[in-house]
Amino acid sequence: MELFEALYTTRAMRRVRPDPIPDEIVDSMLDTAIRAPSGGNVQNWRFVVVTDPGLRDQIAPLYAEAFETLQQTIYKRSWARAHETGDEAALRLMRSSAWLAENFATVPMWLFVFSRNDPSGASIYPAVWSAMLAARSHGVGTCITTILGVFKSAEVFKLLDVPTDKGWVLNASVSCGYPLGRWDLAGREPVHEVSYADTWGNPLGRMIPQPLWEG
Ligand SMILES: Cc1cc2nc3c(=O)[nH]c(=O)nc-3n(C[C@H](O)[C@H](O)[C@H](O)COP(=O)(O)O)c2cc1C
Repeated sequence: MELFEALYTTRAMRRVRPDPIPDEIVDSMLDTAIRAPSGGNVQNWRFVVVTDPGLRDQIAPLYAEAFETLQQTIYKRSWARAHETGDEAALRLMRSSAWLAENFATVPMWLFVFSRNDPSGASIYPAVWSAMLAARSHGVGTCITTILGVFKSAEVFKLLDVPTDKGWVLNASVSCGYPLGRWDLAGREPVHEVSYADTWGNPLGRMIPQPLWEG
């Protein structure tokens, strides 16, 4: 797959089939992830590939609770507004993320990503995104989530036997599976609305209303 196609179309693909992902593809995702940059090249990361159905069954209610907490706190106001205004894009996102919460155990693989000694918290996400891009190139859909790390870290550490005295942090839980839907261009606010030249607020001086990749 062409690099720009992967970069432009690696969407949050939450709705997936229960079919397992072959080991070669899992290996490719992991081997791509560890090529990513990290501050000082410290590579202070660990990846736990969860496919065991029993384990998925145990983590599923934790994810559902974390999702409920998210809905009742951080997203409470914006999701209420989406209902009031009938904002279809926001409602679609809500339905899709609710699907993931309700179907956690049927998602065939979850990639749990840990890091430590990273004050900025930034060294792990290039590796996560690389794994997701590799998955995309193999036709596997992913969705990065962070709610287990935020709301249920202790419980997940216990279930996955993660040492609690070594400084590890759960940065992401990435759902992985073969998509039920179709790949599509990631819709975003255009470049010229979010980018400046030299100083904050100074326009770039050109408009980029359409994606520059035209697949
Ligand atoms: C840091 C981070 C945390 C996220 N957490 C969640 C999550 O907890 N649950 C979920 O369903 N999606 C989660 N997402 C996925 C985003 O909702 C998704 O990337 C965004 O809506 C763009 O989707 P699109 O690429 O399909 O347009 C997260 C994404 C990021 C980058």
